[in-house]
Amino acid sequence: MKHVLHPHPQYRDASEFITLCYRELGKSEVELDMRLASVREQLASTGTYEHTVDELTHGAKLAWRNSNKCIGRLFWDTLSVVDARGVQTEADMAEALFSHIESATGGGVIRPFITVFAPLAANDTAARGNRIWNHQLIRYAGYESEDGSIIGDPASLAFTRVCLELGWRGEGTPFDVLPLVFNLAGREPVWFDIPKSLLLEVQIRHPEYPAFDELGIKWYAVPIVSDMGLEIGGIHYPAAPFNGWYMGTEIGARNLADERRYGLLPAMAHAMGLETARDFTLWKDRALVELNVAVLDSYRKSGVTIVDHHTAAQQFGRFEKNERSSGREATGRWSWLVPPLSPATTPIFHNRYKDDERSPRFYYQNDAKP
Ligand code: ARG
Repeated sequence: MKHVLHPHPQYRDASEFITLCYRELGKSEVELDMRLASVREQLASTGTYEHTVDELTHGAKLAWRNSNKCIGRLFWDTLSVVDARGVQTEADMAEALFSHIESATGGGVIRPFITVFAPLAANDTAARGNRIWNHQLIRYAGYESEDGSIIGDPASLAFTRVCLELGWRGEGTPFDVLPLVFNLAGREPVWFDIPKSLLLEVQIRHPEYPAFDELGIKWYAVPIVSDMGLEIGGIHYPAAPFNGWYMGTEIGARNLADERRYGLLPAMAHAMGLETARDFTLWKDRALVELNVAVLDSYRKSGVTIVDHHTAAQQFGRFEKNERSSGREATGRWSWLVPPLSPATTPIFHNRYKDDERSPRFYYQNDAKP
């Protein structure tokens, strides 16, 4: 039989993904051909096609494997994928997000999860769809007071204002957990407080400098990125929150240390009794190391999964090796893979990576707020 033309623009992306997916999953050529035929049919009659659960599951895993900025990709195949494409009400969406938080947290034994909500419709050229407005499902609010001083996380200033406009009120502490804010396709945003019973947080204490403990610093257990889009075989999922566990430096060398975040290096130095007048003494560097010791030690003692950057870099090396033996070359973005603490002590610093973008992939999308 002569092959028909497949003019649908999405067919190329679709067939590329389906072919890769079915080969990796060890499905037969017959199965592949049958599936491609049905995708062509769906595209022709509806302008889009629907992933099977197997395709969605493997596609999400591949998007993680292709995340060039992520040092934790050794574990890509252990991702748990929750199919929430059927969710049609705000209450069900909130329930699915709460359930993600609960399962991913695992009482401290953190497991990588992704919850995938319905994709963009075929006619949705403006890419309005289901959207989660939070950057991460769990994050702290940031408030700017009259005198310009900031309480909480400065990275959350704009989103906190949105929450306040929607009618949410925080307590005004430096660690107010923001509400979940999301909208279903074509509908107004809604917000839900996350039940306290679902929130796992870690008090940050230093094993040798108890003066630091007095500051009452804490951080949440699970980073669940919720504002990125997921593209699989030409289908766009604009709401697909995902999580791994923390690498210590994300908290200790950035969130708590950056001057534009919690800016705690002077406080740490003070707790250590360091003199902070001159850069030359490297007080910042010494405080930075001890802040990171405090983060790792506190998570470990609380039984919450966390990885140090040396171990993570080693795991990344194993990922590279696995990829090579599977006939692929790991792609990566050096500037993100290299840890912000003692970079040159890890092999990543001394390597080069090709920053090629592959599909399936996670991608940045426009602000959810219209
Ligand atoms: N860097 C972000 C933060 O500090 C989290 C990004 C995702 N991190 C992860 N380990 N999966 O909150």
